[in-house]
Amino acid sequence: MDVSLTENAQQDLVERGFSRRNFGKIAALLSAAAASPTAFIGTASAQQQAARSIKGGTIIGANECWVGPFPSGVEAIAKYAASGNRYDPDDLKDKLVETISLKEGVPASHVRVWPGSGGPLVTIVAAYCSPTKGLVTVNPTFESAWRTAAYLGSPLAMAPQTIGQGADVKAMLAANPNAGLYYICSPNNPTGTVTPLADIQWLLDNKPAGSMVLVDEAYIHFSEAPSAVKLLGARKDLIVMRTFSKLFGMAGIRLGITFADPEVQKKLALYNAVGGGISITAMACGAAVYNEDALIKARRAEMTANREETIAWLTKKGIEVQGGSHANMFMVNWKKPAKAMQLALLAEKVQIGRNWAIWPTTSRITVGSAKDMAAFRAAVDKTYKA
Ligand SMILES: Cc1ncc(COP(=O)(O)O)c(C=O)c1O
Repeated sequence: MDVSLTENAQQDLVERGFSRRNFGKIAALLSAAAASPTAFIGTASAQQQAARSIKGGTIIGANECWVGPFPSGVEAIAKYAASGNRYDPDDLKDKLVETISLKEGVPASHVRVWPGSGGPLVTIVAAYCSPTKGLVTVNPTFESAWRTAAYLGSPLAMAPQTIGQGADVKAMLAANPNAGLYYICSPNNPTGTVTPLADIQWLLDNKPAGSMVLVDEAYIHFSEAPSAVKLLGARKDLIVMRTFSKLFGMAGIRLGITFADPEVQKKLALYNAVGGGISITAMACGAAVYNEDALIKARRAEMTANREETIAWLTKKGIEVQGGSHANMFMVNWKKPAKAMQLALLAEKVQIGRNWAIWPTTSRITVGSAKDMAAFRAAVDKTYKA
């Protein structure tokens, strides 16, 4: 898909200090993100390849859910698959937005739906970072924002991530007191740790005027933490992003949300890095599952039980697990190169997650079903030597 920059986008870029020479490069960025949701995750496509190489094996590497959508979502997909000859026969987009707006208590004008959240993440970095206005995150965190900022030639500052804690917002502000975008992933990928709303509020109160705070809540339903949507009110300097790819089991179906002031949503539309629209099947599924509170709670409880059982097993075996995860992932410090452990487990048909450069001996493990976690434990038992 080819994305060309509108007049308004070009004007906005010039105002933010980009030179006209960069326009082609930025259009190419948006096209690449539109063509593939994982374009700017990079290693994620390598992970998908590894997963395909062990068909029938245990896939606990990419933070996907171990099961698909709730039955109401699957039924909605089947129903609308049969109406797939029509673009949007039942105004499903408005219905989905209304469902989300009612549930979250924010006006519909503040809700925008997208095919997943990887595209909007690229969009948001492109909209708020520039050669002079940088990106600030913790390290480690989800790398897509880093890659986009690097591509744009924006300064990148990282605050250290304390094990077991949420983002250190004071360290983030100190890392660049004049940034364009402060990105907080809560629960954080890969640590699963939650940043308290009071800390996010502190950052909002103390960050430079004109900058944006993005709270990526991809994993929020796996935790019981309150959402930063509560902080939105009339603010124009906060975006909260969600995806249906995690607890809702819809990674391949593609649906995501940004919560923000309508003016902010309009600015994001200038840098729309997503391909086409959203399928009616995805929208119908999303609307059907969004209010399934009892099933959400049960899935969260199942994940938590599976996670804690395996953490207890590893700890008993003398393998260090970093605590504090509130999501479907945890970090294991093998105290030896994580890449070698990842390959050894892959040979046993268990695909675990990657490691981050800052912690080369630590792997991210996605929490799967009880069966997945039993297979993981058996493979660790076979391959791990202290
Ligand atoms: C923190 C975070 N944000 C965003 C995404 C993008 O996911 P999707 O495009 O499937 O919504 C991911 C995917 O793993 C993620 O971990």
